[in-house]
Amino acid sequence: MIFHMRYLDLKRKIQEIRINAIEGIAEAGSGHPGASFSAAEIMGVLYFRRLRHDPTNPIWTERDYFINSKGHSAPGYYATLAVAGYFSTFEMKSLRKFGSRLQGHPVRYSKLLQHHSVPGVEYSAGSEGIGLSVSIGIALANVIDNKKNNVYVLLGDGETNEGQVWEAAMAAPKYKLDNLVAVLDRNKIQQDGFTEDVMPLDPVRDKWVAFNWNVIEINGHKVEQIMDALNKASEIKDKPTIIIANTIKGRGIKHMANNPQWHGKAPQNKQIPLLIEELKGEYLIAPSIIAGEKENYEDKIKKVERGDADIIHLDVMDGKFVPNTTFLADTIKKLRPITNIPFDAHLMIEKPYDHIEEYINAGCDIITIHAETCDNDKFRYIREKVMSAGISLGIAINPETELPEWAFSYLDDIDVIIVMSVNPGFTGQKFIPEITSKISNLNRSLKLKGYKGYIEADGGIDASTVQRVYDAGARIMVAGSAVFSNSDINTAILQLKHKTNVTLERNLLKKADENGIRKDWIIARKHILIPLASELGIEDEINQL
Ligand code: DX5
Ligand code: ZN
Repeated sequence: MIFHMRYLDLKRKIQEIRINAIEGIAEAGSGHPGASFSAAEIMGVLYFRRLRHDPTNPIWTERDYFINSKGHSAPGYYATLAVAGYFSTFEMKSLRKFGSRLQGHPVRYSKLLQHHSVPGVEYSAGSEGIGLSVSIGIALANVIDNKKNNVYVLLGDGETNEGQVWEAAMAAPKYKLDNLVAVLDRNKIQQDGFTEDVMPLDPVRDKWVAFNWNVIEINGHKVEQIMDALNKASEIKDKPTIIIANTIKGRGIKHMANNPQWHGKAPQNKQIPLLIEELKGEYLIAPSIIAGEKENYEDKIKKVERGDADIIHLDVMDGKFVPNTTFLADTIKKLRPITNIPFDAHLMIEKPYDHIEEYINAGCDIITIHAETCDNDKFRYIREKVMSAGISLGIAINPETELPEWAFSYLDDIDVIIVMSVNPGFTGQKFIPEITSKISNLNRSLKLKGYKGYIEADGGIDASTVQRVYDAGARIMVAGSAVFSNSDINTAILQLKHKTNVTLERNLLKKADENGIRKDWIIARKHILIPLASELGIEDEINQL
């Protein structure tokens, strides 16, 4: 089977991968957070959107093969297998412990060695630089046996210092192995420093092109780009493909990000609650393209894409549910091919159940309908349609609306709840202050019910209100006029991210106080906190450390 994880659910799974990996590493007191985190999106997309595999049957003959050649990323790899269901995530706490099967480098699964090998692991990655050769062996054997199983191999950039990698790189095109896809985790750091200092690799792209590989270069933390690259690779004939995934070592924890120190070092166990809060604090900025100048949606999408927006918020208005009209499914369908940034469709239409197929076929990644336009039966109908299409489902509530009782029985399937912070229908309205406490109350009650989805704040979000809604629990922030009424869209998006980051750092300092580790935390995070010290009011404190 191939998992077809919905966009927002996939984001949550990748968070779980990082959380389980860092908990295991802290518990073991050793391990490699840097590499586990730089490859988290790559492994998440492979296991939850690409590979044919079966966690209940690790040796299924029809499975695709995933070879993790960068063995030191084992904590992230094990966490991916555990979150996918190969074994319980509780076992992550036994990482590197005597007698545990989760050792520093993974051991290939064998039924004979059940207690010493890891279900799902295809290759015992010892010294690095060998995985590509093994992948070529499997891919070639599959061709000879006329088997349809594909082979995916994850390479570290440091390990491509090994000569064997280039022998293998020569061999794969010779055998026209189009059933082989390599992904290079290009995080630019290896054991003892930055790759370009240790053994310069650039121009990486030209090297693989010269070795006759089909080469695709992407941002290795954007799941939509990874999925797109894997789709493109599957269309290539008679040539292996390598996806150069530009990543950040340690991404997810700011003081570990792009920091060689955290190649092979474990955080203190007492810092884990803060690291988990930071990982769960990941947020998405969603520019609303109906704001600013009339229409010209293509241009706006291109601009926010350059501004590193996370998703695109599409406000669909039919002039009936709200006293305004914008665009409908046909416009979304036309816009879909111009970008692979996820589309977050906010349906402010009277009868979503009559039109849901149109929005499913338009290429939305998230479809949110208003609770005011639905009841239990209609929502159940929409849920079946949207979820069977592998699309994230959302429900929106107007300022005076509470989440309806019937919605609570669908919390496992609802990936996002939009809490309107203005009355729907127009951009540029003022944020309704009472919505902040509405969001925090809802967040609290949903957490108690085990809700794993997102809360999205929509309406009047700007550099000041973004902090309030984030603090209250929103993790997706829609911004229309705050982005498009600014001539410099990049700066507008950066400003929203900056303000959100300040709120996150403030909350982490609070948590450090609660856990009695403020000084250690500030020392560990000094280079992140210094630029924010005045906004956090901790300049003197930092200067004394
Ligand atoms: C309003 C829409 C919002 C709006 C946001 O009905 O749902 O998404 O476009 O625009 P601003 O951020 O300007 O309030
Ligand atoms: Zn909206």
